[in-house]
Amino acid sequence: MKNAHEQMNIVIVGHVDHGKSTVIGRLLADTGSLPEGKLDQVRRNCELNAKPFEYAFLLDALHDEQAQGITIDTARCFFKTEKRRYIIIDAPGHIEFLKNMVTGAARAEAALLVIDAHEGVRDNSRRHGYILSMLGIRQIVVLVNKMDLVDYSQVVFEKIKGEYQAFLDQIHIKPQAFIPISAREGENLIAQSPALSWYQGPSVLQQIDDFQKEKRKEDQPLRMPVQDIYKFTEDGDDRRIVAGTIETGRVGVGDEVIFLPSQKRTVIKSIEGFNEPLRMVAEPGRPVGFTVAPQIYIKPGEIMCKDGELLTHIGSTFRANLFWLGKHPMIRGKRYKLKLATNRATVYLREILMVLDASDLSTQPHADAICRHDVAECVLQTVKPIAFDCTQDIECTGRFVLIDDYEIVGGGIIAESLDNAGSAINNHVIQREYTWDKGSISVECRTNRFHHKPKFIVVTGGENHDPRELAKGLEEALFHEGRNVYYLGLSSIVGGLEADNPEVREDREEQIRRLGELGRILSDAGLIVVAAVPGLDEFELDILRMLNEPYEILTVIQGMDPIVDTPLNLRIGENESRDASIEKIKEVLQKNEVLLDYYL
Ligand code: GTP
Ligand code: MG
Repeated sequence: MKNAHEQMNIVIVGHVDHGKSTVIGRLLADTGSLPEGKLDQVRRNCELNAKPFEYAFLLDALHDEQAQGITIDTARCFFKTEKRRYIIIDAPGHIEFLKNMVTGAARAEAALLVIDAHEGVRDNSRRHGYILSMLGIRQIVVLVNKMDLVDYSQVVFEKIKGEYQAFLDQIHIKPQAFIPISAREGENLIAQSPALSWYQGPSVLQQIDDFQKEKRKEDQPLRMPVQDIYKFTEDGDDRRIVAGTIETGRVGVGDEVIFLPSQKRTVIKSIEGFNEPLRMVAEPGRPVGFTVAPQIYIKPGEIMCKDGELLTHIGSTFRANLFWLGKHPMIRGKRYKLKLATNRATVYLREILMVLDASDLSTQPHADAICRHDVAECVLQTVKPIAFDCTQDIECTGRFVLIDDYEIVGGGIIAESLDNAGSAINNHVIQREYTWDKGSISVECRTNRFHHKPKFIVVTGGENHDPRELAKGLEEALFHEGRNVYYLGLSSIVGGLEADNPEVREDREEQIRRLGELGRILSDAGLIVVAAVPGLDEFELDILRMLNEPYEILTVIQGMDPIVDTPLNLRIGENESRDASIEKIKEVLQKNEVLLDYYL
């Protein structure tokens, strides 16, 4: 064998009775992959029971043996050629196969699709093609089987080929080849068949050996989902270790890396193993930690990529194919959690493009919910932009699971990034404004009464600055000036309004959203609201800003990188005193005509 360790998973699909099991039985028998004496034993059994021998019986015989003791989710067989080992998955029970494929438990790298030459293209032949495309299986060979029943006719073969090719074109699948075969007679399986001399292409086995192995993990672009950030606790030591497991690619000391979605850049300074000698290069597989210089502020859940390589997408809307396991159907408008690599994000089902019932493979183009064991093509939207890949580019960061109420309710793969589709928050705000039940007091009335306009002020700071101190100081100063000001603490929301919602306690994204909604209500009440959020990032600010519409937020930033692209913000020097900072904030408020002193 060229590469004794190389192994490839192939799935075989096709309409019932079109000959899948016979193809597998033949491949096992003719490559000498059957246990000693198995073929004879099955033949003898057939004779004893006076029924004609079938290659498909070989599979049953094998499975009876294998099934003792182990449960087999999908029927698998093993065979090997000169080139490598194969696992061939017969997928009669579609549910398990689909589930395993989308959750990543099993992954077929290539597929054989069988069509009976005598019966021609059937509905299932099309559905199976569609499923293969949904699952992102790109290497497909179509076997036109039972050519013996149509006198090995080239005309019949070309007709089926033309018809099925036209269908595959619609779903953007380009099969590697169409091969005319007779599985029962063994024509064109292992070697070219004299009966099909008009066909010049490869045999099934040659074609299978021709499938490309997916790229080795280390040869793909770098993807290291950040699991955690460890801090050194020694005084004055501000180093951090960025920890995680490299999924793909490799990275070395001195490499420039970029964290997504925050897009922060830095350089790898050292690679820290756990109980192992220092290394210069890190590869996929083991947990690893990095120190970086310059020091940057990033969060767990981000994906570390390498400068100059293909980066992940950053976005909030994507087309996905998912398999639903939840007891309750997946519906629009409900909030789910999406877990992609180490990141967790709030996600909504925005649109259902197609639902396929995995038990009978019937399709519904306009379903309004995704039920248990459905496979669906749909558009998902996160509240906050996330970093992801499309599975066809990089698999590990193109897969996700969906969680509802702490339970896994689905798994899926990302097929396409859909940018500029409007964000979930934006859609929410439009809907919210539409249903907002307004009182009769206008903003102007309140401004005249309070001598200031409403303003939501968000104070944020880096790790060495607790923004609460400044926020509370600001509240005090404005209050003593006679303003209607209120300090809104994040934990007051979690422990108060959301006391019966324990999920929110561990979920910063949800806390931010609630802060935004409450900030909007209190702004509408005419108040100056001051909130403190440590380490606010640009996406979170974006959420707060959108939720606060039509009002505008003032951001006060101390001791951390500026948050890009904020129209109304104030940066405060690292060592500025509290009182001086408060004066600066007041100046900005005056300049922006929030504080209207001439009324006093
Ligand atoms: P299911 O598992 O039930 O979906 O069927 P399958 O696709 O596995 O088909 P299977 O291999 O069991 O074959 C179905 C029937 O077609 C059997 O009776 C086979 O002997 C017959 N058959 C398979 N291949 C050929 C062939 O090349 N020529 C002829 N004449 N019959 C074939
Ligand atoms: Mg079968």
